Amino acid sequence: MKAVIFDLDGVITDTAELHFLAWKRIAEQLHIPFDRDFNERLKGISREESLERILDHGGLSATYSKSAKRDLLVMKNQYYQKLIDNITPRDLLPGIGRLLCELEKERIKIALASASRNAPSILKRLDLINVFDVIVDPASLKKGKPDPEIFLAAAGHLGVSPVDCAGIEDAEAGIASIKSAGMFAVGVGNERAMHEADLSVRQTSDLSFDLLYEGWKRRMER
Ligand code: BG6
Ligand code: MG
Repeated sequence: MKAVIFDLDGVITDTAELHFLAWKRIAEQLHIPFDRDFNERLKGISREESLERILDHGGLSATYSKSAKRDLLVMKNQYYQKLIDNITPRDLLPGIGRLLCELEKERIKIALASASRNAPSILKRLDLINVFDVIVDPASLKKGKPDPEIFLAAAGHLGVSPVDCAGIEDAEAGIASIKSAGMFAVGVGNERAMHEADLSVRQTSDLSFDLLYEGWKRRMER
């Protein structure tokens, strides 16, 4: 295992909850039903695709023009940015700071594969921007998760072969992306969404270098 590639939202910090709150506010304005169950389908998915899924869910996709959709996307991001404004290094999910230190000590490369265009500003607020060897720019990609492109791009920029990488995700689409990139897939949280993962843990505090490395090795021996 030469590199670990992280998702951001819901893995490094709990911004998955903030995306949920911002989308919920938009859905309520549009009178579209929106709950945590439906929100699971948006995890790991781009801002544009998320809006499409919400409008589809309300049977309203054809009702909104391109420019009206653009306005909704701007509004969602404004709500979201207000919520992330308060993020500090204390908002790191439990165990993530320790895991990053362990990886650095073991000289394992660290990359970020997040669909979020807000990722760099969140990493700065968490005081983590210098910890990452590579941060993939999602704007540079053709396809979003579950396509493997984002994880393959991370491995490519790191100069590490995909089989030597582990990816950590909290979303079904993210696990699918890691798996089709040919990497070792580690799922966090929601067990139902994580059934395709090679290894899954209930919470970030369960993650450690030893756990990842042992799991990765076992998979290589299979
Ligand atoms: C993903 C989140 O990481 O980023 C999605 O799981 C989000 O919920 C997507 O829609 C895009 O984020 P942003 O910050 O560019 O709107
Ligand atoms: Mg996520």
